[in-house]
Amino acid sequence: MKKIILSVILFGFCAYNLGAAEIKTAAPGENAALGQLLEQPAANPQALANPPAPAAETAAAEELKNDDRYWITVLVSDRQARTKLLELGMDIVEVKPEKVSGFVHKDTLPVLQEKGYKLESRQTIYEYAKQYLKDFPPADSAYHNYKETTELLNALAAANPGLASLSSIGKTIEGRDIWCLRLNSSQKEETAGAKPAALYVANHHAREHLSNEVALGLASWLLGHKDDAEIKKYLETLDIYIIPMLNADGAEYDIRTGKYRWHRKNMRVNADKTIGVDLNRNYDARWCTAGASHSPYSDTYCGTAPFSEPEALALKKFIEARKNIKTLMSYHSYSDLILYPWAGLGTPLENEKDRKVFEKMAKAMAGFTGYTPQQSSDLYVATGDTTDWAYMTAGIFAFTTELEGRGFYPGAGIIEHAVTNNVKAAVYMLSVTDDPYKLTR
Ligand code: ARG
Ligand code: ZN
Repeated sequence: MKKIILSVILFGFCAYNLGAAEIKTAAPGENAALGQLLEQPAANPQALANPPAPAAETAAAEELKNDDRYWITVLVSDRQARTKLLELGMDIVEVKPEKVSGFVHKDTLPVLQEKGYKLESRQTIYEYAKQYLKDFPPADSAYHNYKETTELLNALAAANPGLASLSSIGKTIEGRDIWCLRLNSSQKEETAGAKPAALYVANHHAREHLSNEVALGLASWLLGHKDDAEIKKYLETLDIYIIPMLNADGAEYDIRTGKYRWHRKNMRVNADKTIGVDLNRNYDARWCTAGASHSPYSDTYCGTAPFSEPEALALKKFIEARKNIKTLMSYHSYSDLILYPWAGLGTPLENEKDRKVFEKMAKAMAGFTGYTPQQSSDLYVATGDTTDWAYMTAGIFAFTTELEGRGFYPGAGIIEHAVTNNVKAAVYMLSVTDDPYKLTR
């Protein structure tokens, strides 16, 4: 493939560079049983080691005082145990060989205790956020909120009338349009596409704001390089779709107060008044049979039925109406991974030819990003995700990228690096979209 020289022509990056804030989980004692931990006042050794945060920083986390979630680290060392934790309602965020960290609702703590899980640490989300948050939101103004995302997409479409068109694939549960930018030199808006199509979708999860930036950066980059021979060819011979903010409601909710909330799900008000369904557990692919929770308060809540949520349903209908889609990339954050099906089965893809294509594509894309390619379920088994559904219903070569960042709020300084490398991987995906099977020949 022709080497691409990248100059990201993006929206002026903010001068702030906060760097990646390191999340360290506290370690109050080796293999401390949860029972003991529950009896102790929640200690945070890191906070003890560090001077107290200045008042302004502390205030930034105040919003989370009424949030019922805890950030915990559990000692588990195999995939089955990780999958089980997801089913008990844990939202696994970080995976290490011998432990996992993530969020659980307070009602899940006694369940873990009863089942004998060993916790290395636990903190309320408020304590967790206090040590982690600096003064992010004002410093993160380079990130695009929903209005800015809408404006940028409109500006890109307006500046490239023959090439780019914008349409809504449906509305979120709160009524926001889910925007899709189509790049195609001969077909516009919703007219049927005859050429092979690639779909990039981001922000299934609210707090994964970097994924929206990568999708927007990709759109800007492709249009900024529309006259390069290679890109020109793709714009003429392919049908390219970019949906940067699937969960627009959640993304807005996460930043609405000017403070982050670590919100993952959409904005569905559940029967028990808790908020949200995990959109990446709501697809009709072995729905909610493993690695997802039926508890509405859980961050991995799968919803009341497959496609109960308008955002996942909109993407389903969008994909079903476009039989020309061959490849799909779903951007998430964070873990530096490129994942491929199965996500919901612990065994490798049965179709050997397809598996070879997945493996080759993942490896090639990992070469551009420096991420690790692997089968999704090597991490943990999780059912109802976008990629399994897209592959099993439409034969689409569908991937999940877990972007970089060592945290959900890595600062604006990371955007350029993430965009630059992921654009290379995305362009590679375009290079095989005409016929992914050519990789097996
Ligand atoms: N971390 C993402 C999620 O929880 C991606 C999951 C990919 N699937 C998997 N089985 N690892 O939705
Ligand atoms: Zn995600």
